[in-house]
Amino acid sequence: MESIVVKESFKVTLLDTGESFNCTSQQHVLSAMSKMGKKGIPSGCHGGGCGVCKVKIMEGTYHTKKMSRAHVSIEEENAGCALACRVFPTSALSMNVIGKLQKNILKKTK
Ligand code: FES
Repeated sequence: MESIVVKESFKVTLLDTGESFNCTSQQHVLSAMSKMGKKGIPSGCHGGGCGVCKVKIMEGTYHTKKMSRAHVSIEEENAGCALACRVFPTSALSMNVIGKLQKNILKKTK
């Protein structure tokens, strides 16, 4: 019998633009965001080191992999800030984009 791997998929909403996309629990949010076909999403290191993909998660649960403290301090992390390339959802998420990501996302919607 074949084993079936079920990847849970969660809705991620960008509060800044009202857009949403699906992200699986195995995929980082930046990758899912890029796949929604939106142009201008900065593609940085995808390793939690450059800080271009900073977001503030307002609702939902998630886990993160190691992020550069130069870009996300402990205080910021406790307040919901994270680097999208290190965020893996465990429920539906609502987030604001901040920093360079915000500049690019908002520029393309005007
Ligand atoms: S892409 Fe570099 S920290 Fe996310």
